[in-house]
Amino acid sequence: MEQLNKNPRRDFLKTSAIVTGGLMLQPFSLPGAFAAGSDEIKIAVIGCGGRGTGAVFQAFDTGHNIKLVAMADAFRDRIDKSYEPIFNKYGKDKVDVPEERKFVGFEGYKEAIKLADVVILAAPPGFRPDHFEEAVRQGKQIFMEKPVAIDATGIRKVLAAAEEAKKKKLNVVVGLQRHYQENYRETIKRIHDGVVGDIIGGQVYWNDGGVWVNPRQPGQTEMEYQMRNWYYFNWLCGDHIVEQHVHNLDVANWVKNSYPVKAYGTGGRQVRTGKEYGEIFDHHSITFTYADGTVIFSECRHFPGATNRVDERFQGTKGNVYLSAGNHGMLTEWGGKEIYNHKRENNPNPYQVEHDELFDAIVKGEYKFADAENAAKSTMTAILGRYATYSGKEITWDEALNSTMDLMPEKLAWDAMPKVLPDEDGFYPYAIPGKTKVI
Ligand SMILES: NC(=O)c1ccc[n+]([C@@H]2O[C@H](COP(=O)([O-])OP(=O)(O)OC[C@H]3O[C@@H](n4cnc5c(N)ncnc54)[C@H](O)[C@@H]3O)[C@@H](O)[C@H]2O)c1
Repeated sequence: MEQLNKNPRRDFLKTSAIVTGGLMLQPFSLPGAFAAGSDEIKIAVIGCGGRGTGAVFQAFDTGHNIKLVAMADAFRDRIDKSYEPIFNKYGKDKVDVPEERKFVGFEGYKEAIKLADVVILAAPPGFRPDHFEEAVRQGKQIFMEKPVAIDATGIRKVLAAAEEAKKKKLNVVVGLQRHYQENYRETIKRIHDGVVGDIIGGQVYWNDGGVWVNPRQPGQTEMEYQMRNWYYFNWLCGDHIVEQHVHNLDVANWVKNSYPVKAYGTGGRQVRTGKEYGEIFDHHSITFTYADGTVIFSECRHFPGATNRVDERFQGTKGNVYLSAGNHGMLTEWGGKEIYNHKRENNPNPYQVEHDELFDAIVKGEYKFADAENAAKSTMTAILGRYATYSGKEITWDEALNSTMDLMPEKLAWDAMPKVLPDEDGFYPYAIPGKTKVI
């Protein structure tokens, strides 16, 4: 628990050299066959959905000698749907996942992790703390998707495992891929060099129309329904502020070289009110205050048909910043004179770069990436925002990080009950600002 009381700014400054792009180099030995002299790297994927499958493609596309040896998913049909395109593209020499290495259910991840040198953790974020902790315990090199938890209880577990990963010199890359995207790297380097002065304010946005729904099927248990619709349940997703907006909040933390000390905000369900949308809000607007007094305004919403915006803007004492995943990276003086405008063509795909850099380090036997601590603190930033909008209260970083509320079900099984259940009409309870307790 000691790390909960540390000054997050000081922590960030200590680790930012690592989190912003592999600057710390230390040799390590890979466990297993790879260390024993074979140049084949065995990988396993945990969570075989869109991102897990994509990450396997990207691992293969690094061009290194990679073999997929195990797949784990809660559902068998998701493994099959993922296996087919992977096998069709890379073939039997690269894809060696017989029946006995396809692990179905809640516990299969442990066996899959055992079989690999490198693991891809891409299940819904509620499971990430346990999956990450186990991968670190087993001494594996790790690629894990963001967000890395859904509540403070999970964040504390990830922070502890991140410390352990550092001690064991396990490379950990997290899919906050803006850290691996050229326009962000080049522009933020210049911000840190001071070309727009001190950053004193900013606005970060993830406003779009929302995501998929999987309609309830006859015979489904409540656990299966929630798992198939993980996006709409906080124990699995953390709300869209955590699942998506973490990217933009992470950029704010990176630009500021620190984490917020408090948050205050408003949110609710205005447009997406149906029972199929579970318990999450459809909008959050928050002011995050940093230790030096800087205020970053954050807005995320799922309003189909409204104006979309996913980007980050910052104001410095000497100029302005505009960044987006569409390769924008623009620095201007007050008054508009251009200081830097990142080229928008021919930028490498950051999803590929994160795997290229991870596997290059592994092949060279380098310890280069320790993304988990920053990912945990940026995920915590989003959770802090959710705590503020759900409660309607100003919440400090320390209060939030020390929250002992645990949203996970007591038991993980298809006939077990999640903690949040629908009423007789099928509607789920959701937070009421001013009444809901989050701490
Ligand atoms: N970096 C990015 O830009 C980016 C983009 C998309 C998704 N993601 C992240 O990737 C993760 C997965 O998202 P997705 O879009 O692939 O979702 P998805 O629903 O397509 O895939 C998730 C998979 O995990 C499986 N799963 C559920 N519980 C599991 C468990 N306990 N053990 C093993 N598998 C389990 C599901 O059955 C499903 O197949 C999320 O954390 C998401 O935020 C990141």
